[in-house]
Amino acid sequence: MKILVLNGSPRPTGNTAAMVKAFAFGARESGHQVDVVPVCQKKIAGCLACEYCHTKGNGRCIQRDDMQEVYPLLEEAEMIVLASPIYYHGFTGQLQCAINRIYALDKPKNLRKAALILSSGSDHVYCGAIYEYQNSFLNYLKLEDMGIFSAYGEQNKSAEKLEELRQFGLQLR
Ligand SMILES: Cc1cc2nc3c(=O)[nH]c(=O)nc-3n(C[C@H](O)[C@H](O)[C@H](O)COP(=O)(O)O)c2cc1C
Repeated sequence: MKILVLNGSPRPTGNTAAMVKAFAFGARESGHQVDVVPVCQKKIAGCLACEYCHTKGNGRCIQRDDMQEVYPLLEEAEMIVLASPIYYHGFTGQLQCAINRIYALDKPKNLRKAALILSSGSDHVYCGAIYEYQNSFLNYLKLEDMGIFSAYGEQNKSAEKLEELRQFGLQLR
């Protein structure tokens, strides 16, 4: 299956990136195709609510930024993985911008499954991100939940946590 990971961490070798790498390693071992987009290394602005995409644009966003590279990946993907550090109890702003830009596609046509990967300093800080994931991705886009993974404090980059992520990728069907 084609899997698209949107990594919302600005730290290329940070805690979220480590979990994404372990997940992608396991998923590729199982034969899945995994594309990881480091959204903070891209220029992706927020949605302008101009409705060009839903009128003259016919599903295309008017903004000519790096989201144009992500749209084809979104259209091909059967599974999306949202990965982010927790910032103020939610996703990073950069990931939120990319998520809001999915608006142009309505529902990406092959997308069936989703998963969530979160990293934080403290425990009990995930409700905001999980709320968005469950309501916008599972309920609104009607995706099947394949799992929610989180690491806080010393769990970050621990061998146990990275193995959990690798196993998650490995057992995906
Ligand atoms: C701007 C900012 C806001 C943060 N907000 C929270 C928070 O609300 N709760 C929390 O537990 N950690 C918070 N953190 C800590 C990060 O979530 C944590 O360090 C995470 O492991 C970073 O992941 P990364 O290495 O992938 O960037 C915040 C960090 C930053 C820079």
